[in-house]
Amino acid sequence: MTGAPERTVSLTVNGTARAARTEVRTLLSDFLRHTLGLTGTHVGCEEGVCGSCTVLLDGEPVRACLMLAVQAEGRRVETVEGLAQNGELTALQRAFMSEHGLQCGFCTPGILMSLTAAERDGLPEEETATHVLAGHRCRCTGYNGIRAALTRSREGGSDEH
Ligand code: FES
Ligand code: FES
Repeated sequence: MTGAPERTVSLTVNGTARAARTEVRTLLSDFLRHTLGLTGTHVGCEEGVCGSCTVLLDGEPVRACLMLAVQAEGRRVETVEGLAQNGELTALQRAFMSEHGLQCGFCTPGILMSLTAAERDGLPEEETATHVLAGHRCRCTGYNGIRAALTRSREGGSDEH
């Protein structure tokens, strides 16, 4: 009996070239977590609903649980581990801390990635709050802290208080 077919996947993750062998049926979310050790990408529903596995693929938010790792061949992937630079959190991350935009934190990496993409795209705050956050399930916060963090980040204020 032979094992499942494998292939080497070469891609850029958080600015670094990575290559690893994996079964062709491996989901991108599992590849990131189990093969590359980037466990910041969380897996909840595994069917594209909760948004916790969201990463950026060539700058666009995607559900990593709905993609195969081999589909990311040659692409640029960004995960929550790549947001902070030189140990410094982004303004959005700091705003999540100061505005209590997270409790258990399970949904947080996915939300941060979607909000980061929206900010880079210049999506207005209200549109971001309604359309982007609608794609993420948070069971803890009631979304008020997340909305407040978005506002604080967009206003340029992110210091903890
Ligand atoms: S784990 Fe991917 S959307 Fe829920
Ligand atoms: S902070 Fe717990 S699910 Fe969102």
